[in-house]
Amino acid sequence: MTLSEEWSSPLRSLRYLDAFLNSTVIGFAYFEDGIVRDCNDAIARLLHTQKDRLIDLDISSEKLNHVNDETPFYYENPEVVAAMDVTTAYRDLVVGVNFTGAPRRWFSVDTFPVPEFAARRGVIASFSDVTRDIHRERMLRLFYEVSSAIAVAEGVDEALTGLVERLCDVGGYRVAWISFETSEPDGRLEVANRAGAVGYLDGLDLTQGPGASCGPTGRALREQSVQVVQHVARDEGLAPWHERAKTFGIDSIVALPFSVADRRAVVSVADHDIYVFDDETILELRGLLAEVELLVARVQAVTDLRGSLEGTVAAMTRITEIRDPYTAGHQTRVSSLSRAIAAWLGLDDDEVEVIAKSAALHDLGKIVVPAEILGRPGKLNALEMEAVQRHCIVGAEVLEQSSLSGVFVDVARHHHERLDGSGYPDGLIGDEISLAARIVAVADVLEAMTHHRPHRPGYSIDEALAELVSGVGVRYDGSVVEACGAVLAAGFDVGP
Ligand SMILES: [Fe+2]
Repeated sequence: MTLSEEWSSPLRSLRYLDAFLNSTVIGFAYFEDGIVRDCNDAIARLLHTQKDRLIDLDISSEKLNHVNDETPFYYENPEVVAAMDVTTAYRDLVVGVNFTGAPRRWFSVDTFPVPEFAARRGVIASFSDVTRDIHRERMLRLFYEVSSAIAVAEGVDEALTGLVERLCDVGGYRVAWISFETSEPDGRLEVANRAGAVGYLDGLDLTQGPGASCGPTGRALREQSVQVVQHVARDEGLAPWHERAKTFGIDSIVALPFSVADRRAVVSVADHDIYVFDDETILELRGLLAEVELLVARVQAVTDLRGSLEGTVAAMTRITEIRDPYTAGHQTRVSSLSRAIAAWLGLDDDEVEVIAKSAALHDLGKIVVPAEILGRPGKLNALEMEAVQRHCIVGAEVLEQSSLSGVFVDVARHHHERLDGSGYPDGLIGDEISLAARIVAVADVLEAMTHHRPHRPGYSIDEALAELVSGVGVRYDGSVVEACGAVLAAGFDVGP
């Protein structure tokens, strides 16, 4: 055979192809009926085994489809068996492969049916390791979903529940829970948030030991370091929980120390596979938790701020009412009715809250009106009237000094304005009066008329509504009066 003949021989080409395939990082295997007939060295390296252990391996075998120490690996994704179909080519089939004593890796599998040759038909499959991409993608999604959940959380507890729920829904983990340190003498932990197969946690006493009952969660809290159990069934320390773990399909657990508002806590995550929590995954989870700590601290700050705003408003409301006991409860009732009207009008939650809070302070300026004028029965003279009317200006001035939003100032100043310009202090007309001020004006009139005052008894709700209706378009906004009538008809209680 001449040299050129040898080069052109198919056998020679195959030998070069073989050498090439063996030197790549891409694994190739040739299957017939789901059984490996040939493969290159790369695939043996990728699958942490030897080539001769792969030859004749039946990948459709049940054994390869769940946790198993007898086989070199097992996989999840039954589609891989379907991909051995000799008529269809598959692309980018992602298969998770688990190894005994090593973390799971992910492979992208492409298959190519081989045309019938010598009465044999098979499939060539190529495997490339995409573990890093899969990890990165999953963690990015987890990061995104967790931060979104925390961003809309109403408080710290809801934020933490969002975290454990996403760990299970998006991260694919079996159970996730957060335990807090308590002051109990036995070192008992309090499980505050849980998601996934939570039955695992029912009646489970978690302590930070030391003692037989101290598992990874307790240890993580006590030692303030990450604790991993790679194979629950093999962990002697977890012997009392082996049955429970088996029932709930828990094979590995990681517990990561964490802190929420200076309180020590642990985030525990369990998976239905062994050796899932490798260094890379733990690093990623720690990164996620560092981010969560910052986000939760922000939620806490907002909650505190909201709490202190509520406290401030309540205290200021109380101060006005101490001065004017006859209207005790007036601002609070006007606030509730304004909230109901604003909600009925379809304003968004934040607007409704601001209107309700500003209504709670609408008469703040009455602190400068002499108590004997406020409490006096009968008509007031011009000078006294002017003193009473000044409460709008003073209230607005006081609120302007505070860090409260402009709506507070507007409502305090303009809740006595009337559409036809007959109101005070600025005689605003029509659209010059904001919706917030129109709402509080109507709620104010309704409340004032239906409650007893020193100079007259209270009117009935129907009488008060009749006054409002008669002033629609002249003094009061029609849609606000209508909404007020609707919330009262729907059973809103103006209060005693
Ligand atoms: Fe007022």
